[in-house]
Amino acid sequence: MKPVYFDNAATTELRDEVVNEITKVLKTNFGNASSSHSFGRSSKSLIEKSRKAIASCLNVSASEIIFTSGGTEADNLILNSAVRDLEVKHIITSRIEHHAVLHTVEALQNGFNIEVSYINLDTNGNLDFEHLESLLQTNKKTLVSLMHINNEIGNITDIKRVANLCKANNAFFHSDTVQSVGHYNLDLQDIKVDFITAAGHKFHGPKGVGFAFIRKNVGYVKPLIFGGEQERGLRAGTESVHNIAGLELALTLMKENAEKEHAYIKGLKLYFIDEISKALPGVTFNGLSGDLEKSAYTIINVCLPFVSNKLDMILFQLDLKGIACSKGSACQSGSNKKSHVLLEILSPDALEKPSLRFSFSIFNTKEEIDYVISVLKEFA
Ligand SMILES: Cc1ncc(COP(=O)(O)O)c(C=O)c1O
Repeated sequence: MKPVYFDNAATTELRDEVVNEITKVLKTNFGNASSSHSFGRSSKSLIEKSRKAIASCLNVSASEIIFTSGGTEADNLILNSAVRDLEVKHIITSRIEHHAVLHTVEALQNGFNIEVSYINLDTNGNLDFEHLESLLQTNKKTLVSLMHINNEIGNITDIKRVANLCKANNAFFHSDTVQSVGHYNLDLQDIKVDFITAAGHKFHGPKGVGFAFIRKNVGYVKPLIFGGEQERGLRAGTESVHNIAGLELALTLMKENAEKEHAYIKGLKLYFIDEISKALPGVTFNGLSGDLEKSAYTIINVCLPFVSNKLDMILFQLDLKGIACSKGSACQSGSNKKSHVLLEILSPDALEKPSLRFSFSIFNTKEEIDYVISVLKEFA
C-alpha cells in the first residue's frame, strides 16, 4: 500500500497543472515586477491578470485583493490595521479560531489595551448568536473576527448572518476563510464581510502565498510590512510571481471542477463515517464534523472509543504504516499540548479518549479509507 495522505486541512498536494504553471513562470517570468523594462512589465502583467481572476472568483474588484505570504500574514495584516488604522477598540471572536487570529488578538489586547470578548459556544462548537448580538450592543468601535470553516472540527459558520448582524450594528467583520476559499463559492457581493483571508496551499496551490481581501470602503489601511510600493504600498517586498500565478490557477481549477470534486470528496467522507461507525461501535465525531450539511466536506474529527493512553501508540503505528492524519486535533503537532479547540468544547470524559482529524481531497480513495479503518480496528 502506498502512503496514505489524510491531512489535507494541514496542506494539500499540488495539482500537476499548477506545478507546470509554476515551473513555466519561474523560467519565463523571472523579471522583478517593479522594473520598468519588458521583463518587469511581463511579470507585473501576470500578477495583475492573476489578481483579476481571483477577484472575479469572489465577485469583487481586483484592487481589493492584496497578496501576502499566506493566511497568517493576511490575518495579522487585517487585525493589526483594524486596531491601528480603523480605531477598533473592541474585538469579538471565539476561542476556537486558528492561532493566527487568537494569538494576534492577544498581542493587540496587550499592546493596545483593547477589549476582547469571546462568544459563547455549545459542546459542538456552535456559536451563540444571541450572545453575539448582545456583545455588539456597545459604543466602542468593534471588529468581529470569526472563521468560516474551523480547521480542526470542520464547523461551518453562517458568515452571511454574521455579516448582516455586523452591518446592522456598525461593526467591521473579518472572516478567516483559509479553509473555505477554493472549496466553497464565496460571492462577496452577497456576503457583506469587510475582510477575508486565504492561503494557496489549502486548495492544491503553492505554499508561501495567500491574500487578504479588504473591502474598498472600510477606510484607510496601512501596511504591516514597510518597504517598497508593491501591492499599492500595502505589502512591501518583491512579489513571488510564480506563486501568485500558481495560486490563481489552483483557485480557477477548484472552481471549474467544483461540482464533480465536491460530490466525490463528500462521498469519501460519508463512506468513512459509515465504515468507521460499523467497525468501531461507540465512535463519535467531534464538533459538527459528523453532520454532512453543517461541516466542511473535507474534514472529519473522530473521537475513538479507546482508552486515552493508546493515543501515542495509535499515532506511532499509523505513521509506521504510512498513514498521515492529524494529531493536531488531539494534541498540537510537534508538541504535547491539547488542542485548544477540543479543550474548549469537549466534556472531560471525551477529552480522555484519543481524537484524530482526517481530511480528504480528490487524490484519496475508498480503498485508502478501508486500509486506515482496518489499522484502527487493531487497537479496539
Ligand atoms: C483556519 C486557518 N487560518 C490560518 C491558517 C494559516 O495559514 P498559513 O499556513 O498560510 O499561514 C491556517 C493554516 O493551517 C488555517 O487552517
